[in-house]
Amino acid sequence: VTIFLSGPMGAGKSTLARAFSESGARVIDLDAAIEARVGVSAAEIIRTRGEAELRTIERALARELVHAADVMALGGGTVIDRALRRELLRAGTLITLTASTDVLARRIGDAADRPLLGTDVRGSLARIVEARADAYAECHATLDTTDATPGALVERVRAIHAERPIVVPLGTRTYGIRVGAGVVARVENEVERLTPTRVVLVCDRNTRQHASIVFRRLAERVPLTEIVLEPGERHKTLTTVASIWDTAIDAGADRRALVIAVGGGVVGDVAGFAAATLLRGVAFAQVPTSLLAMADASVGGKTAIDLAQGKNLVGAMHQPRFVLADLDALATLPAREHRSGLAEIVKAAWLAGEDDVRVLEREASELVSDPYRVAEPLRRALATKIAIVAEDELETGIRAHLNLGHTVGHAIEAASGYARTHGECVALGLVAALRVGVALGDATASDLARMTRLLDTLGLLTDADDVLRDPRLLDYIRRDKKRDGDTVRFIVPGQPGNVRIERIEAAKIVSMARG
Ligand SMILES: NC(=O)c1ccc[n+]([C@@H]2O[C@H](COP(=O)([O-])OP(=O)(O)OC[C@H]3O[C@@H](n4cnc5c(N)ncnc54)[C@H](O)[C@@H]3O)[C@@H](O)[C@H]2O)c1
Repeated sequence: VTIFLSGPMGAGKSTLARAFSESGARVIDLDAAIEARVGVSAAEIIRTRGEAELRTIERALARELVHAADVMALGGGTVIDRALRRELLRAGTLITLTASTDVLARRIGDAADRPLLGTDVRGSLARIVEARADAYAECHATLDTTDATPGALVERVRAIHAERPIVVPLGTRTYGIRVGAGVVARVENEVERLTPTRVVLVCDRNTRQHASIVFRRLAERVPLTEIVLEPGERHKTLTTVASIWDTAIDAGADRRALVIAVGGGVVGDVAGFAAATLLRGVAFAQVPTSLLAMADASVGGKTAIDLAQGKNLVGAMHQPRFVLADLDALATLPAREHRSGLAEIVKAAWLAGEDDVRVLEREASELVSDPYRVAEPLRRALATKIAIVAEDELETGIRAHLNLGHTVGHAIEAASGYARTHGECVALGLVAALRVGVALGDATASDLARMTRLLDTLGLLTDADDVLRDPRLLDYIRRDKKRDGDTVRFIVPGQPGNVRIERIEAAKIVSMARG
């Protein structure tokens, strides 16, 4: 895996690349590689053939060399291309180097060979940095190089790379996800970066012990308010949200408050909705403690509460500022909840394709017994979700794929009066969805058998026949958020890696799912 160094001209990419080279790393300087390939410098290409031509050459070469070195110093404008930038984010660790405009200008000097700068070097630099703000923000870490020695920066970049950070690329709203044992220790740094006036910590009775760790770490640094909710889906209501609003306002929360959810998907959804609406929106962060919340609910920005009429019927999009998925928290998670989380991981694997499904099939029995074994499938599930969210944050298209298994799953969950867990219902919903896939000719009987076997091995219920006979199911499906008049946008699965959206009448979904 490669480290990519990005940032505006003068930020120190080449200097840092040299320091890496001196420390024994294999280094590619993309500008030098372009010159070696084309025979003239990048600056000369801009002057004679235009910037667009340089970008075309640069894109092709960056893709060709992506795995050819340990460290690649990119050109200042390489990451302008969204598709390439997202590929680099997936392929390795992308670091943006920064410095103030004054420092950049001083380092560049008279700009003799910088055709993009013209005569007003400072002004041009400021405009370029501003225009590329979204592109530079989409990175695993931003490092100011003003006062750091190259040696110290090499160590810092290596340390970041070793942590295998994950990033949700959304322009200047980009945020990081840390997955691993002990990552909650990062909470001080993350909070310090955001400089909130108050932290409102929201947890439930079962996750309070994990919230206490966060509380102790932040207590000396920032005014804190702790809110402990009653656990369970039954409390994912407006009443709970109102209690968070009241407590936060009474404690003196202002618009620079930060709400941190420490808990499963229910805490995340209610605290997130409270944060999205409090004072028209305050910052929000997630410390997920259930496997389901780590793999799915804490990432992507959906927040919601339930109504008597059905699940998640009121909510808002509100992205977190950071996510810390500390695997140590899984030690106290009940086995039943652990299995529930695996259901969302199966869903993500089926969306991703054959490789991810095979990993689960191979490791199924260990995944049930050992929380730390889930790290790799969890990372894969996150990668799948992030790739989809990054393309379609507001669900105008492919984000709906994440709803695989959820149309029937949510209806089963609501019909059970939330006696079944979300993950258990998703498992039943996945079986139902595969049956619909078979009925429509997208999936084969062996795909259905494969999905069923995998869920069975993970200890999830797969016998959907009884629940599918429940007459209330139809009403719940009719009220699904993906409803469009009489039809529901249903995610029809085929083989792993293949799903499509079809509008189907609720009654027809139920009859096909019954098989
Ligand atoms: N926003 C999204 O994108 C999204 C995605 C998927 C699911 N969800 C929502 O997430 C919810 C399901 O999440 P969930 O399964 O985490 O539910 P949950 O929050 O109810 O957690 C399940 C149970 O485990 C307990 N728990 C959580 N972490 C624990 C720990 N470390 N130790 C001991 N007990 C612990 C909780 O108190 C609760 O009793 C549903 O409401 C679902 O709609 C949201």
